[in-house]
Order: sequence, then C-alpha cells, then structure tokens
Amino acid sequence: MKILSVVGARPNFMKVAPIDRAAGALANVEHVIVHTGQHYDASMSDAFFRDLNMPQPSTFLGVGSGSHGEQTAKVIVGFEQALAEHRPDYVIVVGDVNSTIACALVSVKAGIRTGHVESGLRSGDRAMPEEINRLATDAIVDDLFVTEQSGMDNLEREGHDPATVHFVGNTMIDSLLYALPLARQRQKARQLGLEEGAYALVTLHRPSNVDDVDQLRRLIGVLSEASSRLPMVFPVHPRTRSVLERSGLAAMIAPSVVLIEPAGYVDFLSLMQTAAIVLTDSGGIQEETTALGIPCITARTTTERPITVTHGTNLLVDPTPKALYRAIHDVLDGAIVFPRQMPPLWDGRASERILQHILTFSK
Ligand code: UD1
Repeated sequence: MKILSVVGARPNFMKVAPIDRAAGALANVEHVIVHTGQHYDASMSDAFFRDLNMPQPSTFLGVGSGSHGEQTAKVIVGFEQALAEHRPDYVIVVGDVNSTIACALVSVKAGIRTGHVESGLRSGDRAMPEEINRLATDAIVDDLFVTEQSGMDNLEREGHDPATVHFVGNTMIDSLLYALPLARQRQKARQLGLEEGAYALVTLHRPSNVDDVDQLRRLIGVLSEASSRLPMVFPVHPRTRSVLERSGLAAMIAPSVVLIEPAGYVDFLSLMQTAAIVLTDSGGIQEETTALGIPCITARTTTERPITVTHGTNLLVDPTPKALYRAIHDVLDGAIVFPRQMPPLWDGRASERILQHILTFSK
C-alpha cells in the first residue's frame, strides 16, 4: 500500500515524522512525503527534517509565501501534479495550515481516500484562518483522526458519521517523546547563558497579535516589564520579525528579552523543557507544554485545544497588558494550580494507531 503524507509549514513536520517512522516498520507499506514549501527557510523547515530524522521529501512543490488565496491556489496546482505522479492509495493531511485544506481538496476530488490527522479541533473563532482550514478539511475527508475528546464532541455535533471518526491520540506527542532524550542532552538554555528553570520562553506569531503594530507594541511592553523579574528568550518567527523591524519596535525591547532566530525542533524542546514558564500564541506549544508539565500562558481568548486547560498546564489569557502581566506573576508566584494530567492516548503511539486504521480500511 502506498501512503502519501503532506507537509507544508513548521507545525506539520513533527506530526508526520512519527507516521513515517511507524510506516517504515511495516513491510506492506510504502510511505512518501510531499512538501508544499509553504515554509521554506532553513530555520523553519530544513532543521526539522534533520532533528526529526525524517527522510527528504520525495517532492518539493516550492510554493513559498503569498496571500492566502495565492498560496492555497499554488499548492492546489502543484499537488494535483504530484498526486498524478505518485498515484498513492491513501493521502494523509495534518493540522490546519493552508497546505492542509489545499491538498485535501485535490486528493478527495481525485477519488483517493484521505485522512485528516488532528481532526475536530475548533476554536470557534472564524477570524482565524486555521479555523476555516479545519472546518473545510474535516467537511470533505474520508477519515478523521482525533487527538482529544473535544474533537470527538465537535465532530459529533457537526453530524459526522461516527464510523469515520477515530480517537487515536496525538502524533505531535509521539515526536516529543521520541526527541526528549536528545533535548535533555542539548542544554540549549545554558548555551544561551540562561539558568535552567529561571527564564521564560516566548513565541508570538498569530496575525491577531503581531500584524497589528499597536497590539505588538503592547505585548513587547509586557515582555520588557516582566523581564525585570526573569529573563526571557524569544525565538522570533519571520512574520513577527518583519513587523518588529518595519515598525521600529525591535529597538524598544528590553535587553533581558533575548531575541534569537526560530529554533530547531530539538533546541526548542530543550528550551521548553527547562523554562519556568512559556508565553505563546501558538497551537502546538499548548500541547507540548502540557505533555512536559511546564506552565504555559496562551495569549489568546480561545483555544482549539481545551484539554490543555482542563488536564494540562495551559492558561488562556486575554492578550491585554494587564491580564498578561497579572497571569505571569500569578504563575511565577505559584498562585495557580494546574491539573498536570497527561491527556488520554498522548502516549507516543498515535502514529501506529493511525496506520493500523488505514491498513484496515484497505482490506
Ligand atoms: C502558518 C500557518 C499557521 C502556523 C504557522 C507556524 C496558515 C494559514 N498558517 O502561519 O497555522 O501556526 O505557519 O509557523 O497556514 N516566512 C518566511 N520564511 C518561511 C515561512 C514564512 O520568511 O520559511 C514569512 C512569509 O514570507 C510570510 C510570513 O512569514 O510573510 C508568514 O508565513 P505564512 O506561511 O504565510 O504564515 P504563518 O504566519 O507562518
């Protein structure tokens, strides 16, 4: 059986790497990876293949950046051709980026059975491009692979046939558990001159937080102020970097907030694992901090991953200076007690379960 998995942007690589590894252990499965090239920088893409021990993609579409319409359209055109060349029996799309919906659309229309990994997550916020990608992808694919109970509930509410919905766990956590021993050895914080357990790790890249210069200025203000209590390290996403530079805000950041290039997977895991606190607006980092038991302040009003709040270490905080500043101090003062439970099936074996399902479908 030939299975083709699609990767496009940074958060896809860690979801597909364990599927590739699990497929490699099965004699009757050939697995190929198509990279759409939505993310293309060495730091946003190449580093992840190395760190995750992932083979080079069989095909690289090189679509690059652009407006949503342009990027999605280029993926559609390129992927149609890639599918015709590879002729897989099954296509896997993961996550919620533009490449996810674009490739799902092409594959389903080509009559190829298609599964969505990380299906059913909903923030309820249609202003997020990712929410539209999730809804549209789940509406058309054949098989829905789910990471947490909220996904099962959302898909049931939306009327999906229960026979198509599979609670398998989280392939992102498969990658995390795989790379953790390496991350522990890496000691990235020490390399940066930070004391383990005594710094904050920051990431910001959501359009709602960084494209609006006034909002980004407010966030930079909070970081600069809070960094008088503990130093911060901030790997800067290219989207955020470009706004910081264009607006002159980069010069306003306190010196105790250390800006670095986007970190590779193992480096980032190492930084997360020894942080006192993580401040982010990312999707996946909410899950990774929950699995690691590290407190995470998510500067957003909604989350598509509520299990990280009910079971893990995630605190959703209004992205206003007052609320964020208060939350940072409350967490550091130990005033917030997190449940710190590992969510069900986040056990490092989600990819194996996905492949078992796919093999059953083909019987
Ligand atoms: C995309 C995903 C988002 C995910 C994020 C992780 C969509 C709609 N969004 O957002 O869900 O959380 O990736 O990073 O698919 N850029 C570079 N080099 C790169 C990649 C991007 O310089 O390798 C620049 C682009 O030129 C663009 C900006 O970063 O100006 C944003 O990239 P884009 O892929 O459009 O969206 P992200 O914000 O990264």
